Amino acid sequence: MERDFKAMVQVMTLEEKAGMCSGADSWHLKWVDRLGIPRVMVSDGPHGLRKQEEREDGVMNRDSVPAVCFPPACATACSFDRDLLTRMGEALGEECQAEDVAVILGPAVNIKRSPLCGRNFEYFSEDPYLASQMAAAHIRGVQSRHVGTSLKHFAANNQEYRRMSVDEIIDERTLREIYLAAFETAVKEAKPETLMCSYNKVNGEFLSENHWLLTEVLREEWGFAGAVMSDWGAVNDRVKGLAAGLDLEMPGSGVMDGEIVEAVKSGRLPEAVLDKAVERLLRVIFDFADHRQQVQLDWEAHHQLAREIEEESMVLLKNEGVLPLKEGSKVAFIGGFAKNPRFQGGGSSHIHAFRVSDAWTAAQGMAELFYSEGYEGDGEQTNEVLLRQALETAAAADAAVIFAGLPDSWESEGYDRSHMRMPEGQNRLIQEVCRVQPNTVVVLHNGAPVEMPWADAPGAILEVYLGGQAVGEATVNALFGRVNPSGKLAETIPYRLEDNPSYLNFPGDGKRVEYREGVFVGYRYYEAKKMPVRYPFGHGLSYTEFAYRDLALSRVEMEEGGRLTVSLKVKNVGSRAGKEVVQLYVADHTGAAARPPKELKNFVKVELQPGEEKTVSMELDTRSFAWYQAEIHDWYAASGEYEILVGASSQDIRLRGILSYRSHTRLPFRVYANTTLGELLARPETRKLVEEAAGRMQEHVGGAEGEDSGSEAINPGMQLGMMENCPLRALRSFAGLTTQDVNQLVERLNQALEQAER
Ligand code: BGC
Repeated sequence: MERDFKAMVQVMTLEEKAGMCSGADSWHLKWVDRLGIPRVMVSDGPHGLRKQEEREDGVMNRDSVPAVCFPPACATACSFDRDLLTRMGEALGEECQAEDVAVILGPAVNIKRSPLCGRNFEYFSEDPYLASQMAAAHIRGVQSRHVGTSLKHFAANNQEYRRMSVDEIIDERTLREIYLAAFETAVKEAKPETLMCSYNKVNGEFLSENHWLLTEVLREEWGFAGAVMSDWGAVNDRVKGLAAGLDLEMPGSGVMDGEIVEAVKSGRLPEAVLDKAVERLLRVIFDFADHRQQVQLDWEAHHQLAREIEEESMVLLKNEGVLPLKEGSKVAFIGGFAKNPRFQGGGSSHIHAFRVSDAWTAAQGMAELFYSEGYEGDGEQTNEVLLRQALETAAAADAAVIFAGLPDSWESEGYDRSHMRMPEGQNRLIQEVCRVQPNTVVVLHNGAPVEMPWADAPGAILEVYLGGQAVGEATVNALFGRVNPSGKLAETIPYRLEDNPSYLNFPGDGKRVEYREGVFVGYRYYEAKKMPVRYPFGHGLSYTEFAYRDLALSRVEMEEGGRLTVSLKVKNVGSRAGKEVVQLYVADHTGAAARPPKELKNFVKVELQPGEEKTVSMELDTRSFAWYQAEIHDWYAASGEYEILVGASSQDIRLRGILSYRSHTRLPFRVYANTTLGELLARPETRKLVEEAAGRMQEHVGGAEGEDSGSEAINPGMQLGMMENCPLRALRSFAGLTTQDVNQLVERLNQALEQAER
């Protein structure tokens, strides 16, 4: 049914319209019976449905309804699998239809600037391209069921400390390339029905009233046609917010609708702005209301999907032949997480899982199992008795698996971690068990990287992250080789927190936080600094091996606006079936700007039987080569050479090719008295004129070419170097020009540039 939302808005009273722009309570939008506008509900995600049920008396139950807790984004991003995320989205959409929920809040694409951010477990990656692809796939899945999503938290909500007031100081290039890019691509590719603005300020302006971001960038540039809602309690000035593009205040405070009415009556807010906001909200409401589906939920199937997603996501960080474990052998499971796994983080994304599988139960029948607690509580302190028991159990078995990780209270919405360490008692347990049992595997349950001072000791490390409610089965299947791990790290694991690029500027002084590392976030920084890391971005092992060959570029020259197809062959050269994530990076060799050594621009996951070889292809376009040129406020790729790098991780590049790129964009360039000779010598249009003028300068600083200058202080190479950094005005001091001469030269140079442009 095509509805005429404009007409609907026309017949609403001013009060009804203002009312629509805030929630009825924490989770419902308002409704208008006389116009048939129904009451719809939004609920948290992102990786499960957290619907707070209404009691008979209309009050919300504190507990949410039982649902399926899929793996959070920290894990799913490591799948590098778009289809998998879409399937998860479809399942979420079905759960929403079954529970009468119109919008599920998520996915969350904030960039992992620091490993300490308390909500990193809900975010995908340190890389905006990967985050954008995972988010877009998730959105497509949910929305295919006529349930809305809310892409969040827009924007630059990269820490929890003072999240409701902090001012994030970020230069435009960094903002565009790193912190907005995942939102941009997800908006353009998947069209989320809503977007949630974050609490924080960016460069002095709250997101909830940031006209530049909510209207100019989001709507006018990116074409976002959905509604913007506030994060819960993010509204500062309601009227200013509405004018900036914030349609819905959540939860409804009940006190700010009147301010909107007043502002319209007094002429401070054009009524058309309000009308537009209401229209956008009606679209979201009716997309759901007009497409209600009778869904018979199959929870068991969703639980199995949660298992499959986790199996595709967990990352085998290290394996020296210990894994897979032999079925039927004697295996010691050590650590409380074996029986009570940590599978999700704290805060608004906390799902009431209808069932949780633990490794201990899941492994019954697969091996001769022994259990030892290993540590007490969070494992901060060593319990000597438990440690001794663990050592005995481990020594007596064929292999030991330590289920370790971060305690619940260390990772949650609302606050950040203060360090990157594991609980000290767990660190010691790992060290000591490895001493008595060479076949030790460490299974890590955590939402963000930890320092692993013991990493050399165990025979294998399996990072399961926070694995959702089926984590136990998934882990055991990977440990015993029923599943071949195929996840790749969506973030770098540094040796220590101090190595992280944001270390000196995180989380700021309580008022402001400056993003001084610029675009050098995550692997972009570690690689630029040639800094060794514990495990690099994109790393992840398999029980089989893959060989790459025959890189082919569909063209070796590309013009701005063109496309490039990169293809290659991947072969499973091991003896087990497995999946490989083939990663495509681009390196800018033009020297036009300070850029990271390489950036991820595409990837594909491919399944291969032993001995099987497949050709895979990936596309690149102009944007894949571009950086954000702040002078022209646009994306820009300079003419020149770019290297195409294909690999199994950011540091395991297997194939390389060169592309020659031609830009049609001319960067604006004007000459001033302070323009350097170097800049002018580099341009064919100005070189000749400058060479003439500079010839005299050479004489001045050390004799003309060919002559013995008689001075060893300045050799010709040095002369050139000095000249390059000289501004035109200095020709007065070194080449005998007058101020008038310099001004004339500036004029002639600008004329030469204009002529060349014509
Ligand atoms: C969180 C959002 C969440 C909302 C509703 C806020 O505190 O930042 O991510 O969707 O609460 O629970």
